[in-house]
Amino acid sequence: MKLFLHLCIFFSILFISLTSSYSCTLNDKNALLQIKKSLNNPPLLSSWNPQTDCCTSWTGVSCTNRHVTELTISSGKISGQIPAQIGDLPYLRTLDFSYLTHLTGNIPRTITKLQNLEILRLKETNLSGPIPGYISELKSVTFLDLSFNQFTGPIPGSLSQMPKLEAIQINDNKLTGSIPNSFGSFVGNVPNLYLFNNKLSGNIPESLSKYDFNAVDLSGNEFTGDGSMLFGRNKTTIRVNISRNKFNFELSKIKFARTIVSLDLSENHIYGKFPRRELTKLRLQHFNVSHNFLCGPIPQGGVLQTFEPSVYSHNICLCGAPLKPC
Ligand SMILES: *[C@@H]1O[C@H](CO)[C@@H](O)[C@H](O)[C@H]1NC(C)=O
Ligand SMILES: *[C@@H]1O[C@H](CO)[C@@H](O)[C@H](O)[C@H]1NC(C)=O
Ligand SMILES: *[C@@H]1O[C@H](CO)[C@@H](O)[C@H](O)[C@H]1NC(C)=O
Ligand SMILES: *[C@@H]1O[C@H](CO)[C@@H](O)[C@H](O)[C@H]1NC(C)=O
Repeated sequence: MKLFLHLCIFFSILFISLTSSYSCTLNDKNALLQIKKSLNNPPLLSSWNPQTDCCTSWTGVSCTNRHVTELTISSGKISGQIPAQIGDLPYLRTLDFSYLTHLTGNIPRTITKLQNLEILRLKETNLSGPIPGYISELKSVTFLDLSFNQFTGPIPGSLSQMPKLEAIQINDNKLTGSIPNSFGSFVGNVPNLYLFNNKLSGNIPESLSKYDFNAVDLSGNEFTGDGSMLFGRNKTTIRVNISRNKFNFELSKIKFARTIVSLDLSENHIYGKFPRRELTKLRLQHFNVSHNFLCGPIPQGGVLQTFEPSVYSHNICLCGAPLKPC
């Protein structure tokens, strides 16, 4: 009898811990079931069964203290739009919908209710329309990845109002217009900018010169004019790629940070001579100035002679190793 009582207590405790400490709150569970319904009950979410615990057995769902804090749905056949009920998961810290080529429409406004969101990754889906400015109401987001979608229109200037942003990854869309002037006044961190492979154009705001970007990739756009504000002796920039644009500035005027390891200036309208010593002091691992309007001797020294001749090719009259002697 005593053993039976002990067993009863043991199983009650087990039952309580299984049902309460691990299962998600009713609010979160209902929101997820609504999301599943809005997406027309896709097979990918068949594990989202109302009879089971959404924290431990539902695909892509993770919890902290019974609240859903992470939702990751990736690589599958999900058709339709991001359900508005996504805003009903108030403890969400990571929202990751990636490689869902049949996910269409835009980002619903209800997303702004997710004030704990730190990572917003909607990568390689088929979202379209303009990137909504209200994304900037997500004040906890550190990492914004909307790459490989069909977004059109300008970059919303309000992104500069996100105080914790560390990276803006909006490459491989169909964005137009220039870099917003507001990017000259980020309220918080200066985020890494990955804007490559869009249809962005115009001049880069001069005000960016005061920023110390870690990594900037503007390649594969239609930017024009000066690019010197991206550089600067006192910066700690590591990677800059402005390849495949129409930048038009004098190379010898640029002061490079000693920290740069990757520098791709190829396929632009950059002119003038090489700075005499500037580049020989860098520990470059990737370097490319091909397809520009450069002329004169390639400085000898540092790592500049370790690159293959093609990184200097298609200029006006560059000479010296690894090209032909001057
Ligand atoms: C993506 O959306 C476009 C229209 O915006 C459509 O033409 C295309 O077929 C969609 N791609 C997929 C894989 O669903
Ligand atoms: C720079 O961007 C171009 C085009 O997007 C890419 O092909 C190239 O590999 C990049 N360069 C480096 C050094 O990453
Ligand atoms: C770079 O830093 C040095 C020493 O800290 C300072 O003297 C110089 O004015 C700075 N240059 C620029 C362009 O800010
Ligand atoms: C340098 O850039 C040119 C033009 O973008 C490209 O064709 C070439 O492959 C690049 N070279 C290297 C070594 O990356």
